[in-house]
Amino acid sequence: MVRALELFCGIGGFAAAVRDGNVRLVAAFDQNQEALDVYRHNCPHHEARRVDLERVSAWELTTCAADLWWLSPPCQPYCERGRQRDLDDPRARSLLHLLEIIERLPENRLPHCLALENVAGFKTSGARKRLLEALTTRGYHLQEILLCPTQLGVPSRRPRYYLAASRGAMNPVRAPMGLKPYPLPGYLDFSPTEEYPECLLVSEEILTRFGKGLRILDPDDPLAYTTCFTSGYGRSIINAGSYLQCRGSVRRFSPEEIARLLHFPAGFGFPEGMALRKKWHLVGNSLSIIAVQTMLTAFPDILPGQRQ
Ligand SMILES: C[S@@+](CC[C@H](N)C(=O)[O-])C[C@H]1O[C@@H](n2cnc3c(N)ncnc32)[C@H](O)[C@@H]1O
Repeated sequence: MVRALELFCGIGGFAAAVRDGNVRLVAAFDQNQEALDVYRHNCPHHEARRVDLERVSAWELTTCAADLWWLSPPCQPYCERGRQRDLDDPRARSLLHLLEIIERLPENRLPHCLALENVAGFKTSGARKRLLEALTTRGYHLQEILLCPTQLGVPSRRPRYYLAASRGAMNPVRAPMGLKPYPLPGYLDFSPTEEYPECLLVSEEILTRFGKGLRILDPDDPLAYTTCFTSGYGRSIINAGSYLQCRGSVRRFSPEEIARLLHFPAGFGFPEGMALRKKWHLVGNSLSIIAVQTMLTAFPDILPGQRQ
């Protein structure tokens, strides 16, 4: 069994990706209490801890003797639509702190493998340069991969940068060719507007004002795919995700449908009473499980379940 430590765990995208793999999750760290509530709701047996990774100690990271560290650090410093302050953004500090620890750790405390996910804009950032320097200096072999769920047959765009690093051998990662696309209706609930009365429906006023700027999908269109759902979905009207034609009106996607498009497993859910906007926020920050499973094939020992 590979012992894994999930850093910036959020609602547990990595935990979901490896749940059928040869992996034992020894701990998961995040500073957001509501994200941890969702994590614990779905993985009650995992050790999910509230930890500020800008201040975490080397001891706390290494005491669980993980073979693999998974990192999904904040993406705002590198987002196309953000200010792209890169290493000058205070939200980059937690990653820098972890790199400083990696640079100082004795050889026998370093994890054998490390993997990281971020937005595609990370590829050209100073943070990536710093990350690569730190890891090559410590003897890691590296593999960088840009993957989008659409390459894996999922009707949802979410291009992301992945890095696989190992002190041993790695498999080359490639998106499989010629996959039959999954149709969009398979991800949709029949009447999610009943669970969220009124809140999913887009008002006439919004449609009149922003109609042309909204990406409204016809669920019967076999080529329909969603754009990336961000953590601002439901709050920002434009550029935060797609909308759906629905019996004469237009509605938003529910958080459960977005989780399904990310390939969270059946049974994934949110704690009772969590506000709709909070769910959108948390799921918009999460991972494409199917893309993470594909990139993890870089590590010969993990081999999570792959698409049939
Ligand atoms: C891009 S999201 C990763 C989400 C996660 N992969 C998931 O599946 O939900 C970044 C996460 O980093 C967390 N975070 C940001 N700064 C942090 C810090 N200083 N210490 C711990 N967690 C932090 C946020 O709360 C958020 O959950």
